[in-house]
Amino acid sequence: MDKQVIQTLKQRLNIVDVVRRYVSLRPGGGRQMGLCPFHQEKTPSFSVNEHEGFFYCFGCQAGGDVLDFYQRVNGLEFKDALEQLAAEAGIELKAFKPDPEYDERQKLKRLCLEMHDAAQEYYRRNLDLAAGDVARVYLQKRGADKDAVAAFGLGASSDDWHGLSTFLASRGFSPEQGVLAGLLSQNDRGKIYDRFRSRLIFPIQNLSGQVIAFGGRILTDGEPKYLNSSDTPIYKKGEHLYGLFQARQAMTRSKRAILTEGYMDVLALHQFGYTDACGVLGTALTQDQVKRVAGFCSRMVLIFDGDTAGRKAALRSAEMILQYGTKCSVVLMPDGEDVDSLLQKMGREGLDARLDAALDGLDYCLEVVREGFSPREIVAWANGFLAHLADNSLRPFYIPRLALGLGIAEADLRRFGGGQGRLGTGGQSASPQTRQVSQPQQERARAKSTGNDQSTDRRFLSLPVHYPEYIAELNKRGFEVLLHTDLAKNIWSQLRMASSHEDMLSLFQGPEKNEYLIVKEEQPHHEGDALTIEWQHICSQIEIAGFRLKREQVKEDIRIAQESGDTQELMRLLVVLKDLNAPSREDE
Ligand code: UTP
Ligand code: MN
Repeated sequence: MDKQVIQTLKQRLNIVDVVRRYVSLRPGGGRQMGLCPFHQEKTPSFSVNEHEGFFYCFGCQAGGDVLDFYQRVNGLEFKDALEQLAAEAGIELKAFKPDPEYDERQKLKRLCLEMHDAAQEYYRRNLDLAAGDVARVYLQKRGADKDAVAAFGLGASSDDWHGLSTFLASRGFSPEQGVLAGLLSQNDRGKIYDRFRSRLIFPIQNLSGQVIAFGGRILTDGEPKYLNSSDTPIYKKGEHLYGLFQARQAMTRSKRAILTEGYMDVLALHQFGYTDACGVLGTALTQDQVKRVAGFCSRMVLIFDGDTAGRKAALRSAEMILQYGTKCSVVLMPDGEDVDSLLQKMGREGLDARLDAALDGLDYCLEVVREGFSPREIVAWANGFLAHLADNSLRPFYIPRLALGLGIAEADLRRFGGGQGRLGTGGQSASPQTRQVSQPQQERARAKSTGNDQSTDRRFLSLPVHYPEYIAELNKRGFEVLLHTDLAKNIWSQLRMASSHEDMLSLFQGPEKNEYLIVKEEQPHHEGDALTIEWQHICSQIEIAGFRLKREQVKEDIRIAQESGDTQELMRLLVVLKDLNAPSREDE
């Protein structure tokens, strides 16, 4: 799995030959054109450039090299695509194992994905059979149209306790594997049976469109109303959003993401043309989810119930989005109404009126806090808000607004949120990535920022891009501190959240996609021993950068302590700084 292998592979395999197995191509405009295998189309916009070894679709912007193509068209991971193509080209791959359990984990994930694929096929087919009678009638009663049902791949499970387990067995999966994938359940006596029975099935997809979990709405009067997959090797609650796969392209166009709580709400929103909507899936909105969506839009619209619980959830969610530095607005639904029922009753007019009257997210937070919180709670809230900003450069934006909205002096607010910095500098082992970069330091970094930064960033990114098995470990060590440009940071934040079985290229849009392709195209200059050296180099760079950052942070905290006359804190910080300046750790 090194530079030479990939190069040789590309020399030996003609991309046109490989593509031709899946797509019929005709020459046109100096390249080969055909119908894109990655999206539905009637006129060819899929081009293959034989000379450059690239494919690109003008319709869906899918693009990449022969490996990307092979990987995507067969739903493989990079490593497997490489293995198969290398075998075809007669190239021997040296076994490469930085993480001994990596292969095992990948195998397990692949198994789970395959089983979900099979389960999805089963549930979807049920919807057209007698087993899906109740579900079909139910969908009709709820006004769901065919296109939306198809776009979201809805399905049905019958009341059979062994429907899916029998089907999985016919595909060669054991009952135990079904339990492992979270599709089957096992009782105390060891009996294995279908987890989802008598339910309308909502498949949950990752950003590559692979089904990774299910949600099921009860169709009888049983409990619970919605049953969701538990955590499995391919699905972790709070990391994914329902419908993001279907919505992300619309989001990049509208720059907006509508976030709602219910499965049926997402379905209705898409059906009524709000195709930039997705759902938070039965938990409170998480930071992971915010990051995931933020990559596709510049503002988020939260739709919540107007009851006490809904208002509280809206506050928490708006806070998180604002702290991340994304704009947000809040729509509260009247009692007993949700998006789905509103749309079914009043159509777009009804919702548009609500969207037009949406409250600004920050105003909303400030109002809830001002009206409902005690003085002590108000101060604590403001402190917490500033302490958890994703980036301290947001402080100048929020401090005057919080001051105005809550009636606290700006100077007092400025002392807040240093809390995070103090926490960080007190701790011994916090990874540098959790450290907040102080504003002056960021500005300095920006002033230094040159074209050089981009090439340094590319060099660093090369490792996780070419060897995704390193991503988890790099993330743990705080790889982010090494990156200078926003472009590289965005790429990294997508990479580190992607599971390694996702089609990486599909995570990116626009400039990020270009940059990713550039990094991917530049052959890694590390292989074998050089790879180990590169890895060690990166680790020590992270450590040094983290150390530097820590020192900057302490200096910033010292400034704040000085300004606010907090002598005790000042003394403490000076000691911390002295330790940080210890010669053994000197790095400048
Ligand atoms: P709601 O109870 O508001 O239901 O749950 P809903 O979405 O309007 O459902 P319908 O319209 O009656 O079919 C909102 C969301 O909370 C999660 C689901 O994601 C649901 O869509 N939920 C709810 C669960 O995960 N489990 C439950 O038991 C209930
Ligand atoms: Mn509902």
